[in-house]
Order: sequence, then C-alpha cells, then structure tokens
Amino acid sequence: MAKFNENYLELKESYLFSEVAKRVSVFQKNNPDRSVIRLGIGDVTLPLSKEVVNAMHTAADEMGNADTFRGYGPEQGYDFLRYAIQGHYKSFGVELDTDEIFVSDGAKSDTGNITDLFDKDNVVMIPDPVYPVYVDTNTMNGRKIVFIDGNAENNFLPMPDKSVHADIIYICSPNNPTGACYSREQLKEWVAYALENDAVILFDSAYECFVSDSSLPHSIYEIEGAKKCAIEFCSLSKTAGFTGTRCGYTIVPKGIKSVSTSGKEMSLNKMWNRRQTTKFNGVPYVVQRAAAAVFSEAGMKEAKAMIAHYMENARIIAGTMEELGIRYTGGINSPYIWFECPFGMDSWEFFDFMLEKAGVVGTPGAGFGKNGNNWFRLTAFNNKENTVEAMKRFKKLFD
Ligand code: MLT
Repeated sequence: MAKFNENYLELKESYLFSEVAKRVSVFQKNNPDRSVIRLGIGDVTLPLSKEVVNAMHTAADEMGNADTFRGYGPEQGYDFLRYAIQGHYKSFGVELDTDEIFVSDGAKSDTGNITDLFDKDNVVMIPDPVYPVYVDTNTMNGRKIVFIDGNAENNFLPMPDKSVHADIIYICSPNNPTGACYSREQLKEWVAYALENDAVILFDSAYECFVSDSSLPHSIYEIEGAKKCAIEFCSLSKTAGFTGTRCGYTIVPKGIKSVSTSGKEMSLNKMWNRRQTTKFNGVPYVVQRAAAAVFSEAGMKEAKAMIAHYMENARIIAGTMEELGIRYTGGINSPYIWFECPFGMDSWEFFDFMLEKAGVVGTPGAGFGKNGNNWFRLTAFNNKENTVEAMKRFKKLFD
C-alpha cells in the first residue's frame, strides 16, 4: 500500500478558514431566519472594476478569434504583464528586471510552493500570530519551525532574535492577521539579520496597497541589501478584487543564491524558473490581461477607489473598538482589525458567542497561532451597510 506523508499527521484537522466556514454553515442550518454578516475570511465584496472587465472582454474576444487565439502562454507570465508589474515597483523606487518577476495564480499558492526549493533541514522562523499557510506548508514538509512572538508589548511586530539562527524567515507586512506594518528601520534590521545568517526572507506583501502612510515601505526591496536575501510575494486579490479571478506575482531576484549541503551554489531565480516550468502552466491569458489593466493609470485609480471604500469600513470598525475601549491594532494601513477578546473569553469562545448573539462572523486569533488565543480578527472587506450593522450588533453585546 502507498505510504502517506506522515507530516500530515502534524496538521490541525482542517485549514482555519474551512473550520470557520463549517461552523457558520452549521449555525445557518440551525438558524435559517437569522441574518449573518461575514467579517471573517478576507474575501472582497466589490465587483471587478470597469477597466479590468473591459480588458477581460477584449481578451475573451481575442481568444474566440483564430487570428488572435492563444494556447499555452509563458509559464512565467506574458511580457505585457511583467512590464506592468515592473512599472508598479518603479512607483516605489524599486528597479526589477522582468525575468525576476513570475506571474502566478496568487500569493497563497506561491508562499506554499516556494518550499519546494529548500532542503528539509533548514530552520524556518515564523512569527506567531501569522497567516496559517506558512506554518502548514512547512509542517507538510517536516521542517523545524522556530516561532517568534508577536504580542501587544511589541505591537505584534517581532524583531529578530540574534541569539537564534534561522535559514528561512517569513515576514508578512502589512500583517495578516494583526494589521501591523513594519517600518523601514525595522525591515533594515530584518535584512541585516538575514544577511548575517545567510538566510532567505520570504516577504508576503499581499496587503501593500493598503499602506497609506508614506513613511512605510510597500516592498522589502525598498531596503538596501534585500535583493540579496529576499523573495517577495504579492497578489491582486486584495488590490483589485481578484480573490476569485486569481492572479499574483512572485519576485525572485537574480542576486539570491542558496547553497547545497556539499557547498554547491544555485541561483534561486533559476531554481524557481525550473520549478514553475515543470509544475505550472501559467495564468490564463484573459486573467493576465485583466491584471495588466489594474496597473494602467485608469485601472490603478479604480483600485485605489476600492481600497478607499474598504478603508472607510476599517475606520468604522476601529472607531467601535475605540468607543468600547478595546485594545486593537491594524485598520490604518491594513484592512484587518485585530482586537483583544472581550469578557475574558478565548478566541473560539468569542467566535461562537458573537455568532450566536450578534450573527456576526469573525476569525478567531487562535487560528493564527498561540499568541492569538485571546485575540480576534475582523475584516473591512464587507460593504459599508453591513459593516455599520455589524458594529451596531457588536456594541449591543456590551449592553
Ligand atoms: C484571510 O482571510 O486571511 C485571507 O483571505 C486568506 C487568503 O488570502 O488566502
């Protein structure tokens, strides 16, 4: 009989958002008349913008015409999109070569897939709390994980512990779930730590478009030296409502090297290219045209309007926390609000309590790590009407 990968025994029975969805569906089945407002998974609610939809229509027409039809595209993405992404990075002052840009179906897949490039014996440093994909995918590979604590004392922005060695470091900024965002100075420390340890930083910038404070970095490559030690993942899911459309990009600078146990050096850019050409056939042409439209002047204006809409919801949620005197982070340069569970409850208790009493869904902090046990996440991705109603119901819990 085929033997299974025993590392799967180390995983929780279900992925965090599957567990949340399961509990909500049971609640709805038992309470068919109750209205439920979802501020749980960070899934967008606004439709794709006009520029994006027009680009998709045009591309669909091309696909239906023998003269313009396209079959397999380049696994790394079409040049028109790689140039558009290169232009986006220029807007933060970052110069990239187009062959350092790999178009993908999203940051979730790539932050998991990148583990293919690394030996099992690397020590992986992961902040806690954090987006569960990093922990789960490394657990699937049986890697040793060293957690670094994010907590109220360090504003959920853990800094490197120089007494601990790591080979691979995950950083997500603006952070999912806490909404906290590293400053340039803090990222400089991380880059220095990575260079000292010959480590690779896997930097998830999926929420960069929510950074409104001009002193905060959008990309780790704004930090000197980062191109020697960091791979960056980004996505159009939250930037332009592509959660269902699927398009992201991963930057693997040509300057990052890795070494085998026998001392042989390899370029991670070449290895990623080898991996992608073997295991991935690229993102659909229509989707790539839609993605390129996001980076046009008109498309970016529309994306910014969507973000402004969500950030108004974030202000409403954060305002409620202020009013109730609840400790929270996020909501300023991020669509997530991370707050301390009221009434001395732990996060799953509070999840069930809020669903039962208010019909509002959030995400229990425990799903992001042990430091989230008494914390809770709400997203700004619903519409304004629902967000206002959810906060009205939330306040009633305190009557
Ligand atoms: C979240 O809610 O944390 C995100 O939607 C998950 C994701 O982007 O995969």
